[in-house]
Amino acid sequence: MFVNKAIFPVAGLGTRFLPATKAQPKEMLPVVDKPLIQYAVEEAYAAGVREMIFVTGRHKRPIEDHFDMTFELEVALEQAGKQELLDVVRSVKPDDMECIYVRQAQALGLGHAVLCAQRLVGNNPFAVLLADDLMVGEPPVLKQMVEQFDEWRASILAVQEVPAEHTRRYGIVAGTHVNEKLMDVSRIVEKPAPEAAPSRLGVAGRYILTPGVFHEISNQPRGVGGEIQLTDGIGGLLRREKVFAYRYEGKRYDCGSKEGFLQANVELALQHPELGKGFREYLKNLEI
Ligand code: UTP
Repeated sequence: MFVNKAIFPVAGLGTRFLPATKAQPKEMLPVVDKPLIQYAVEEAYAAGVREMIFVTGRHKRPIEDHFDMTFELEVALEQAGKQELLDVVRSVKPDDMECIYVRQAQALGLGHAVLCAQRLVGNNPFAVLLADDLMVGEPPVLKQMVEQFDEWRASILAVQEVPAEHTRRYGIVAGTHVNEKLMDVSRIVEKPAPEAAPSRLGVAGRYILTPGVFHEISNQPRGVGGEIQLTDGIGGLLRREKVFAYRYEGKRYDCGSKEGFLQANVELALQHPELGKGFREYLKNLEI
């Protein structure tokens, strides 16, 4: 039993990033030189996942095109002898990686999006990655989680401490500590007010789940905001199986928000092997 499948729910409306997301998917917004979705796919690949399942909606064609072969571009680069660029283009989809697309006709919530991939996942454990949470970690955050899964053979949720005033933005977990990094979850609440939050550990957009969660999602009534919530499905699951919250090592940028997206661009540009030095100089000399 190993994690070979990942679901990328990319059917959301991206209202926090309007007008940029009016006609293009937020997952295609580039941070420095790569679209958000490519960072998430690379993270899954680095964790050993080879089957990428995208839950898409209307206006999401550019995601399919991005992971498809761009024949004309490749021929043009080849003829121009631009081997380095050709390698960059080809590396977007390694040969041993499979991309599968399934539609979520209506954006009924993250839980519903995950449910749309049920038949493709079958009776296997799987990862869920929300591409608008850009994670930077070494080893990559999903790889850290796969290591935990291999040890505990149970669902693993990535968590981080969040400021009390931000609990309304997250699923918040409570439970008993197994060790410094791991908590045996006994409760999960979606977007609680600070006074109702059972802790300050918020779930970030990375999950490894056992297939039992599908049944739990389908049994839940509509949750917060009238949406079919993944959090509620996980709440059902932890009554039957162990679910662990894992404090990952790394940094998360909420690229579904304009501030988080700008921070990711600045920080990743500063770390970029080719652009970093010049960009740092530019920022230093910036007079505003
Ligand atoms: P968000 O809560 O960020 O929603 O969804 P959103 O619609 O994308 O963005 P805002 O809040 O309107 O700005 C979290 C993740 O779940 C996916 C989104 O694409 C995003 O990756 N999602 C959400 C779906 O695939 N389907 C849904 O019905 C809802």
